[in-house]
Amino acid sequence: MSLLIKGGRVVTATDDYFADVLVEGEKVTQIGATLDVRADRVIDAKGKLVIPGGIDAHTHMDMPFGGTTSADDFESGTIAAAHGGTTTIVDFAIQSKGESTLKGLDVWHKKADGKATIDYGFHMIVTDMPDERLPEMDRLANEGVTSYKLFMAYPGVLYVDDGTLYRTFRRAGENGTRICMHAENGIVIDEIVKGAVADGKLAPKYHALTRPTRMEAEGVHRAIAIAEVANVPLYIVHLSSSDALEEVKRGRMRGVDVIAETCPQYLFLDQSYYERENFEGAKYVMTPALREKWNQDVLWTGLKLGHLANVATDHCPFCMTGQKELGKEDFRKIPNGAPGVENRLSLMYQGCVVEKRMSLNRWVELTSTAAAKTFGLFPKKGTVAVGSDADIVVFNPDRKETISVKNEFTHHMRVDYSTYEGFQVQGFSEVVVSRGRVVVDQGKLTTSGGGRFIARARHGELLR
Ligand code: URP
Ligand code: ZN
Ligand code: ZN
Repeated sequence: MSLLIKGGRVVTATDDYFADVLVEGEKVTQIGATLDVRADRVIDAKGKLVIPGGIDAHTHMDMPFGGTTSADDFESGTIAAAHGGTTTIVDFAIQSKGESTLKGLDVWHKKADGKATIDYGFHMIVTDMPDERLPEMDRLANEGVTSYKLFMAYPGVLYVDDGTLYRTFRRAGENGTRICMHAENGIVIDEIVKGAVADGKLAPKYHALTRPTRMEAEGVHRAIAIAEVANVPLYIVHLSSSDALEEVKRGRMRGVDVIAETCPQYLFLDQSYYERENFEGAKYVMTPALREKWNQDVLWTGLKLGHLANVATDHCPFCMTGQKELGKEDFRKIPNGAPGVENRLSLMYQGCVVEKRMSLNRWVELTSTAAAKTFGLFPKKGTVAVGSDADIVVFNPDRKETISVKNEFTHHMRVDYSTYEGFQVQGFSEVVVSRGRVVVDQGKLTTSGGGRFIARARHGELLR
C-alpha cells in the first residue's frame, strides 16, 4: 500500500516547507517539492499542515483506580486518540504490591494486544522495589520499558517511601532509563484531608482545597534532590502550578537532568470549576487538582521558554454515572482523573498558534517530538522524515469545532462528559495515518486494531 500526501505544508519541530510526502508500506520513503510517482492513494493536502502524529506520553487506559476502572480501554481509548491526531501513546503498566513488575507488564500487554488502533509503549509503575527485585529492572529495560513512574501521592495505594524512590532511581540511572515522578506530598495532604473531613467538608471542591501547591512544590524539590544524588534523568509528570515550576527551574539551573510535563487541563481550566453545582465539580477531580487561574499564564510561559518540555493529557476517564458519583457524599471517593486524549492537538494548536503564544514548530515539538525524544521513540516516531514511521496527520489549521460530548468530531472517548465542554478550538486533525494505514479520514474511523507495542530505546539512544 502506498500513499502520496500532496502539496501540504510539512511542519516538524525544526522545519517548515511545502512538499509531497510518499509513504510506502509503514514508512515515509520520499519527500520532495513535487514527487512524480504513482501511489495507491493520493491525499490532497493543499492548505493543510502535514505534521508528525501526536504522541501522548501519559494515558491510563483500562486502569483499576479509585474502586473502579478507567472508562476507556485500549480499544476505545486509542480510537479516540487517533481521532484527535495522536498516533502513539505511552500508557502505564502497574506492579501489584509484593509482586513482580514483569508480571504487571504481562497484564498490561494482555490488555492492549490486539485491541489498540495506534502504537503504544508502557512506563512501569513501581509500587515496591526491594533489593532482590532490582534485576527485574534490567529485564524491563531490555524489553523496551525504559521509564518508570513512582508516586509520592496516594498513601496506601500507589505511594512509595523515599528509600524505594532512591533504590529505584539508582538502578534506573544505571540502566540508562528515566524516572517519571508524581510529585506531591501525599502524607501531608492526607493529614489536611483528615482535618477537612472532620469539619464536614466533603464536597468536590475540598479535593482542591486540601492539596496546596506548596505540597506539589515540595514533592518536586525532593524528587529532584533524590534524582540528583542517584544520577538518573527525571521527568515530572502533570505539573500544575507555578510553585512546582519554580522548583524545576531551580533544579535545571543547578544542572540537574530534570524536565517536566504539563497537561491541557492545567493550561485551560482552573479551580473555580469545582464550584459548579449539582456535583458537576466532580468532573474535574484529578490529581494534582486544578489551580488558581493565574497559574495558567505561568505554565504557558514555561512552555514558551522551555522550562516545561512536554504536554501530555493524563487521560484517565471516569463516567459521571456509576463512577464519579461514587463520591457524591465524600470527595475522597471520587475516582481521580479526567478524559482528554482526543482533544490535545486541537487545544494546543488553539493555545499555541491561534492565540499567538508559540510557533508552529514549538506546537509540533510539544505535541509529538519532545515526547519521542524523551521516551526513546525518536526518530522512528515524532517527525516526518524519510525512514521514519508514517505516523502523519493532515491537519486543517482553519477548521473550527466546539468541543462537546455531543460533537461527533470531538468526542469518541467512552465517557459521558467532556472536560472541555463548549470550548471553541481552531485546528482539526482531518486525516490520520498510523504506520502507513489511514485510520481516520475526515473524522471517520476507517480501520481499527493494528496498533503495536513499541519497545523503546534507552535514554540518549535512537530508535529506528
Ligand atoms: O487524577 C489523576 N491524575 N489520575 C490518574 C493517576 C495519576 O496520578 O496520574
Ligand atoms: Zn500521577
Ligand atoms: Zn496519570
